[in-house]
Amino acid sequence: MVSAFIDHRLDGVIQVISIINRNSLQPLYCVYCSAKQVCKTVYTDVQIHSDHFGYPYGASDVICKGEHMQHATHVLITTNEKGSGDLKMEYLPIKNNAVQETFKFNFTVCISSLFGGYNNVLQFAQTMEMYKLLGVQHVVIYNTSCGPDLEKLLKHYETEGMLEIVSWPIDKFLNPSRGWDIRLHKGDIQYYGQLVTLNECIYRHMYQSKYVLLNDIDEIIMPYKHASLPPLMEDLQSAHPNIGVFLIENHIFPKTQFEESGKFKRAEWKNIPGVNIMEHIYREPPQKNVYNPTKMIVNPRKVQQTSVHSTLKDLGGSFHVPFDVCRIVHVRVPLQGHLTKEQLFVDRRLWDFEQKLIQNIDQTLKLSGFL
Ligand SMILES: *[C@@H]1O[C@H](CO)[C@@H](O)[C@H](O)[C@H]1NC(C)=O
Ligand SMILES: *[C@@H]1O[C@H](CO)[C@@H](O)[C@H](O)[C@H]1NC(C)=O
Repeated sequence: MVSAFIDHRLDGVIQVISIINRNSLQPLYCVYCSAKQVCKTVYTDVQIHSDHFGYPYGASDVICKGEHMQHATHVLITTNEKGSGDLKMEYLPIKNNAVQETFKFNFTVCISSLFGGYNNVLQFAQTMEMYKLLGVQHVVIYNTSCGPDLEKLLKHYETEGMLEIVSWPIDKFLNPSRGWDIRLHKGDIQYYGQLVTLNECIYRHMYQSKYVLLNDIDEIIMPYKHASLPPLMEDLQSAHPNIGVFLIENHIFPKTQFEESGKFKRAEWKNIPGVNIMEHIYREPPQKNVYNPTKMIVNPRKVQQTSVHSTLKDLGGSFHVPFDVCRIVHVRVPLQGHLTKEQLFVDRRLWDFEQKLIQNIDQTLKLSGFL
């Protein structure tokens, strides 16, 4: 059991986001209780998400349908059809009790998994500051572990208020894979349980955020024709009023190719660990006959189940946003490492923000003790 929510789109059932071993299915029961400790036990409808990348454990919805669910405050899942009565089992609080029409945030970014000794401080600071300029108010990161310097920066952003860190100790329960291809990266569950955290993040923000961006820590969803995300989404949404899922193409900027002038090779950043994304303006062309993955901007109230590159169940359909309107700036190791600079496109979109961006990055690095 990960988290429990009322789903008002499904007549107010309780939806428990869970992780289930697909090779060992058994009937599950749901015990839900009111504040007065009156509990009921009902049989559940279990929906294992169709995307699990072949790993034995998968993201699942355990759906509890019964009477008086609107008064329930906590719930647990059990294999015992008599209900649990076992007070040692932990109940989950039930969230999203009431529908809200106004939201605390307009744009929230969900970063699905942070693990290993990831210590890419400079790229993370640059990305966070870029997102602020683009109109993002809230970033959520699911933390299994990270490097010592990034830890310090995360704490800074948490104190400052922009970042919410959700503890994600998946490695205490399962042997998580560090990748998505089971042939290359063995384990119980794909990429540190990324599919579970993405779904959790959507439900968590259903009534907290107008839009949710689902992308990795090293990706920036970047408008190319609008100055920021609010006017982009206003235009997209008025052209496609019913759409709740906007697919954004991923484009790779190899960190091995540097721009020539060196104007962003700043002395201030010399000792900051990580990649300086301002130096990487060369973009790989999309590969022919290869699926070029997308990430998403979603209205969380229109999504029921999501995968990484598209949703699995939504209300209202999805729209592929044209590449010249919005795309992802993804600075990382090259995907097509054989290409020379001449075969790459020059894309200086980040530089449009340079003045404010650099000022804000330096300010953050000072406040967090790096400068
Ligand atoms: C969200 O957008 C609306 C409309 O543009 C604006 O009035 C509101 O202040 C924004 N909310 C936040 C938290 O920035
Ligand atoms: C991330 O998780 C690890 C492991 O539990 C913990 O040691 C670390 O303090 C967490 N970092 C933050 C910024 O919460």
